[in-house]
Amino acid sequence: MTSSGLNMSVNIGGIKMKNPVTTASGTFGFGPEYSPYVDINRLGAVVVKGTTLKPRLGNATPRIVETPSGILNSIGLQNPGVDYLVEHYVPYFKSLQVPVIVNISGDTVEDYAKVAEKLDAAGGVAGLEVNISCPNVKKGGMAFGSHPSMAAEVTAAVRAATDLPVIVKLSPNVTDITAVAEAVAKAGADALSLINTLLGMAIDIDKGRPVLGNVMGGLSGPAVKPVAVRAVWQVYKAVQLPIIGMGGIANAADAIEFILAGASAVAVGTANFANPRATVDIIEGIERYMKEKGIRDINRLVGAAHG
Ligand SMILES: Cc1cc2nc3c(=O)[nH]c(=O)nc-3n(C[C@H](O)[C@H](O)[C@H](O)COP(=O)(O)O)c2cc1C
Repeated sequence: MTSSGLNMSVNIGGIKMKNPVTTASGTFGFGPEYSPYVDINRLGAVVVKGTTLKPRLGNATPRIVETPSGILNSIGLQNPGVDYLVEHYVPYFKSLQVPVIVNISGDTVEDYAKVAEKLDAAGGVAGLEVNISCPNVKKGGMAFGSHPSMAAEVTAAVRAATDLPVIVKLSPNVTDITAVAEAVAKAGADALSLINTLLGMAIDIDKGRPVLGNVMGGLSGPAVKPVAVRAVWQVYKAVQLPIIGMGGIANAADAIEFILAGASAVAVGTANFANPRATVDIIEGIERYMKEKGIRDINRLVGAAHG
């Protein structure tokens, strides 16, 4: 219960969040980077940067380009590796009063399982978000997210490697997102995140060459919001798992739209780059909306647009 008498708390596959707003992986660092701008302890949870077994340097530059209503990125999962994260960031995670969810990736199914095991053993991590949907890496990445059977295999391997809640992050770059959602639900996922970025590209007309060093990248920001709301709507109808919705959320109205479509929580990504306080602004905006509408429990809004 907040001081205003509203119940803002949600439960995402066993992770208790005091409000439904979290960060989207890769757009909020590991947390400390944003602490000068925003009180991280106000958030419902923090989802940190994608982490792999070995450190990764990421893709060739340039790796970000602005597009109408969004950005294209091809970071390529640059990160210091799970052992570094455990040594240097887990003590910070333990000092926070919010659950920290670590986003994990791998080149092979075994890689995912090993990262999950190490994070489980480290403590200080509330859950794992399994990225089977990154469009910017050559091996693994989106390939796992595009095939229901491979998505299920990764999910089952992570499930077997940890007792932590397992949230599987789905790709929009598929014909039928519900088929992948159903497969990972059967394989033991506790919750789902959707969506990751949409595969796109841009060409520099003066140079006559692709802008991104990696040629293609992932599109995010307001441009992808209708695709994301549609994906949440479809998956909410198909699968009985809590959903973290994301894709172009920049203000409270956007977040409420996702919740009405079926998301129990929302993640803020690209908007953090323009407004590092976007998450807290959104929490306050959702509270205002609930007061105006006379809704005391956020959970009553989840999926309410389905009638
Ligand atoms: C620069 C950048 C880096 C990202 N890195 C990751 C990542 O490491 N793992 C992941 O699952 N998603 C990653 N994403 C995808 C976001 O978490 C999110 O799913 C997507 O950007 C849609 O939300 P948005 O439109 O609010 O940004 C990244 C997105 C951006 C823009």
